[in-house]
Amino acid sequence: MSERTLVLVKPDGVRRGLVGEVIGRIERKGFTLAALDLRVMDRETVERHYEEHVGKPFYPSLVEFMTSAPSVAMVVEGERAIESFRTLAGATDPIKAAPGTIRGDLATVTQQNIVHGSDSPESAAREIKNFFPGLA
Ligand code: CMP
Repeated sequence: MSERTLVLVKPDGVRRGLVGEVIGRIERKGFTLAALDLRVMDRETVERHYEEHVGKPFYPSLVEFMTSAPSVAMVVEGERAIESFRTLAGATDPIKAAPGTIRGDLATVTQQNIVHGSDSPESAAREIKNFFPGLA
């Protein structure tokens, strides 16, 4: 079933020049891009995006980090794109992420784990609307 998911290349990924690497992996897997935008996220957008993490110990520094420098937001489309991108990304903690995954190959720190991908159809719909309100 074709789906859409919201993928972010976080500030660490943009700063390290990994946007092409991430998009390359997404495209080689067989997915297509339905939308793409480079921007410094404002606080409101980040707070809406990470609303389920409010109150967690890492939340204040996560918001600080995500508003500190440009990120790339994109909508990725294809067969079971939500679950499939999370497999490509690997575990949230890069030390536990399998080699061959984006985080397993390229990251060492949980907060600076290069990418975000929606975790469910409900999250994907909410997150896509937050970043691309005009997308049909
Ligand atoms: P992401 O998949 O975007 O979802 C929430 C983000 O919070 C996560 O990636 C990490 O960047 C960050 N995060 C989650 N758990 C922790 C943690 N224990 N310590 C620091 N950052 C975390």
